[in-house]
Amino acid sequence: MTELTPEVARRRTFAIISHPDAGKTTLTEKLLLYGGAIQMAGTVKARKAARHATSDWMALEKERGISVTSSVMQFPYRDCVMNLLDTPGHADFSEDTYRTLTAVDSCLMVIDAARGVEERTIKLMEVCRLRDTPIITFVNKLDREGREPVELLDEIESVLGIACAPVSWPIGMGQRLKGIVDLITGQVRLFVGARHGERAEAGALLDGLDDPRLLEHLDAQDLAALRDEIELVQGASASFDLDAYRAGRQTPVFFGSAIHNFGVQELLDAVVSYAPSPGAQTAVEREVQPDEPAFTGFVFKIQANMDPAHRDRVAFFRVCSGAYERGIRVKHVRIGREQQLANAITFMAGEREGAERAVAGDILGIHNHGTVRIGDTFTQGESLRYTGIPDFAPELFRRAQLRDPLRSKALLKGLEQLSEEGATQLFRPLTSNDLILGAVGVLQFEVAAYRLKHEYGVEATFEPVNVVTCRWVHGDDPKKLDEFQRRAEANLALDGNGELVYLAPTRVNLNLTEERWPDLRFLATREH
Ligand code: G4P
Repeated sequence: MTELTPEVARRRTFAIISHPDAGKTTLTEKLLLYGGAIQMAGTVKARKAARHATSDWMALEKERGISVTSSVMQFPYRDCVMNLLDTPGHADFSEDTYRTLTAVDSCLMVIDAARGVEERTIKLMEVCRLRDTPIITFVNKLDREGREPVELLDEIESVLGIACAPVSWPIGMGQRLKGIVDLITGQVRLFVGARHGERAEAGALLDGLDDPRLLEHLDAQDLAALRDEIELVQGASASFDLDAYRAGRQTPVFFGSAIHNFGVQELLDAVVSYAPSPGAQTAVEREVQPDEPAFTGFVFKIQANMDPAHRDRVAFFRVCSGAYERGIRVKHVRIGREQQLANAITFMAGEREGAERAVAGDILGIHNHGTVRIGDTFTQGESLRYTGIPDFAPELFRRAQLRDPLRSKALLKGLEQLSEEGATQLFRPLTSNDLILGAVGVLQFEVAAYRLKHEYGVEATFEPVNVVTCRWVHGDDPKKLDEFQRRAEANLALDGNGELVYLAPTRVNLNLTEERWPDLRFLATREH
């Protein structure tokens, strides 16, 4: 116990993972309303509107100013301070989305009741797996006809490989939606739909299925069927187990409708009651407790200012211990330099003002001119290096093609610097002079081309290349590695840090290669 212990215990730092259109933006807005951050709720919507117009790159640019602040939304709820980190999802999906998940203590997973588990959710869940991040599930859009709840639970279990513990249960769906039953307290919340654009009133709260008022909404036959169904579900599924949830083995499942603000408060209450507060963080040297007095933390994301007249960047920094106060002196461990942290951004309810105080779990935005990199640790003197902030194998690859061959040096420099910011990765094949750019979101190539032109004066395009995925190659036996390097040379490249990477032309090729070289490790992530 230290002075900081109670302050840290009040933090909930989390992100929402979902496939596009499952309702993340809508849910975010409703969550912010509970935090009283009404102004911010409007901002989220504005941002989303801009996003829809967004293969138009300049539109994205315009909303950059907003997106720095809506990248992290801090709001009070009950006696907690909630830090909701945005995971860019539509066209702006990128490696940042993945990396943000390494800076949170838990996630909310939103599933569309009609569509079930979708592809992007599967990928994001894989990232959560790396750290056994606890997940609370919200099955959204109950106000529409969707799939059978039991079927959805089965799908989550089988596709995502996590046990489900339903903690609420829908009474009907679509037009027939009457409410939800809280399976822990037995209480029933009646559904009152909101008309478009209106804020839904909370429906009445009934004591349980025996409450006579329920019969005003359900006939006796339906009520009997509901009882049977609930009995069946409770018999067949695990009951909620806090430890299993915290260990990432079980997800409590809630049902609701974000647009009708139905089931949302229950969800937020669950984050407060169940989701972990910031815990110990692992550094190469030791574990760091969140309530230790000395200030430490790491950078998990860098966002460049898109305006070429202002080349500054904002580094998103997760506080891991101690307390930030304005003007605090810190050590930038990688470059061994002391500096003052002045004018860091905090993210309280939509205001972008100088931060007064931040403790473990809180996020700071630090202005810099390119000196800060992803994974960098700041401390108050100790030489700590936090781990667990990885690069992820890109899923899209393109070859940079220059208009003017004489600009190749500038091209290389630009691509190297952009890759240091972390939204793209640069690969240099062993057997050619190609520059191959990898990304997890397609917009990143447009961003790279735009920034190369405006910041480095290089006109480049990005052409398709025959690579579908890549793996970092490790091995304990230098002889084996040498042999592999000779045999597979044509598919090998060095990444921005000079590490060996296998560029696979197909998934099948990757599988075969892995089988053929059992002594080597083919890793889909690389730690900073
Ligand atoms: P995203 O951020 O995950 O991409 O999803 P978003 O919240 O933008 O929601 C995607 C669409 O689904 C939106 O419709 C939104 O209104 C709708 N939606 C979200 N939650 C619910 C819900 O509980 N029930 C129903 N029926 N629909 C829901 P849209 O037509 O794309 O946009 P809009 O014109 O409604 O804003």
